[in-house]
Amino acid sequence: MAFTFSGPQLEQIETICARYPARRAAILPVLWMVQEQEGWISAEATEAVAKVLDLTPAAVYEVITFYTMFQRKSCARHHLQVCRTLPCWLRGSAKLLAYLEKKLGIKAGEQTADGRFKLSTVECLASCGTAPMMQAGHRYYEELTPEKVDKILEELK
Ligand code: FES
Repeated sequence: MAFTFSGPQLEQIETICARYPARRAAILPVLWMVQEQEGWISAEATEAVAKVLDLTPAAVYEVITFYTMFQRKSCARHHLQVCRTLPCWLRGSAKLLAYLEKKLGIKAGEQTADGRFKLSTVECLASCGTAPMMQAGHRYYEELTPEKVDKILEELK
């Protein structure tokens, strides 16, 4: 399906670009803009981002594939990314992941049949001091317990 930026989005992109010495430096906020709108970043959106930032699609694709936060396939409404790196693991991330898998009825890498949640494991999200933690969208959920997870799942509609 074709992807195009709206007029207001193009204005917003120009505002973002004005903050940086080079247009390519705006790539992360522009990719976030796409993902928030579409839920993922398609090949067509990749080309649109490349065009608006004067880059090649390959240069944009390199960034999309480097960061685990960007989705290259149509994705669930909420992407739960559980950190599994050592500090989080020492504070119970494996048990937390098992709890989420049981609660959602899926394994890491899968999404629920209703399209509400996708569950993934990721490496350190730089919040080791508040382990165990996970990210959903832009938000960090920290010092997690099963009780906190229950509340978060209820809140994420
Ligand atoms: S190890 Fe989990 S945030 Fe750093």
